[in-house]
Amino acid sequence: MQISIAPLTPVFGARVSGVDINKPLEPGAFAAIRAAFDDHLVLVFSGQPMTDEQQVAFSERFGALEGTAAAGVNPGAGTPFARQSNLDIESGETISGDDRRMFYQRANMFWHCDSAFKAIPSLCSVLSARIVPPEGGATELASTRAAYASLGAGEQAEIGDLIVEYDFEYSRSLAGFTFAPGELSEVAPVRHRLVRTNKANGLKSVMIGAHAKCIVGWPEDESRALLDDLLARATRPQNTYRHHWRQDDVIIWDNQAAVHRATAYDTTNHRRLMQRTTISSGGASEF
Ligand code: OGA
Ligand code: MN
Repeated sequence: MQISIAPLTPVFGARVSGVDINKPLEPGAFAAIRAAFDDHLVLVFSGQPMTDEQQVAFSERFGALEGTAAAGVNPGAGTPFARQSNLDIESGETISGDDRRMFYQRANMFWHCDSAFKAIPSLCSVLSARIVPPEGGATELASTRAAYASLGAGEQAEIGDLIVEYDFEYSRSLAGFTFAPGELSEVAPVRHRLVRTNKANGLKSVMIGAHAKCIVGWPEDESRALLDDLLARATRPQNTYRHHWRQDDVIIWDNQAAVHRATAYDTTNHRRLMQRTTISSGGASEF
């Protein structure tokens, strides 16, 4: 079978077919997937029913996996998996909408990239659709490479050296969620460069979204205005893609050049389990 890569939108995203990502990949097949990821930022695969081991094996081709933070409210804590689900992991029963664990997950409905609040930011995430509700629960993605490209040369130069503070406690607080003592393992805010450069192709993007609290050294109103403007540019309709999940779909997204958000579904009457592995970028930020 030949790997085929078909763009999802004129701006970003591609559907990859003709490859079984649950089998050990030949170097050439992985190189094609990796190049497509660098080019398109978001890759969608369908009909790939993954076991946990297969998800780990595929994800590790991109780099070392992160552990999962926030014991207590995050059902994947202590495993390589983050689970976006309304199901209790032990009993399989649906969790009530006013349970803290559901409240915690609702923060995913803000545009964000995963793990920007960690000392070593993430390269990308792999999300596999284990149980898909019959309606709702789509995931939206947007290109922050397109946001950067929409700036004029002068504006690009102005933001070139900016440092952003990312803070998980801050981003969860946007959704009204507060952590109990000991729940938060990644407590301290961290700093990374706003502008990210893809090592393979040199294309630039901005790492923004809910975890981005402020531009270091800027007055609060100007800082918020810039971060909001960049997010508005990224999420212009032509720069977004909405994925309606089917069981056994797998999506990989770039966490430094794309943002994503969850959308609502009927959490009382439907079941949803999406399982994520998060790949580390491998290095702390240097300024
Ligand atoms: C995630 C995430 C969105 C969704 O897994 O990181 O934000 O639709 N998921 O579940
Ligand atoms: Mn996410």
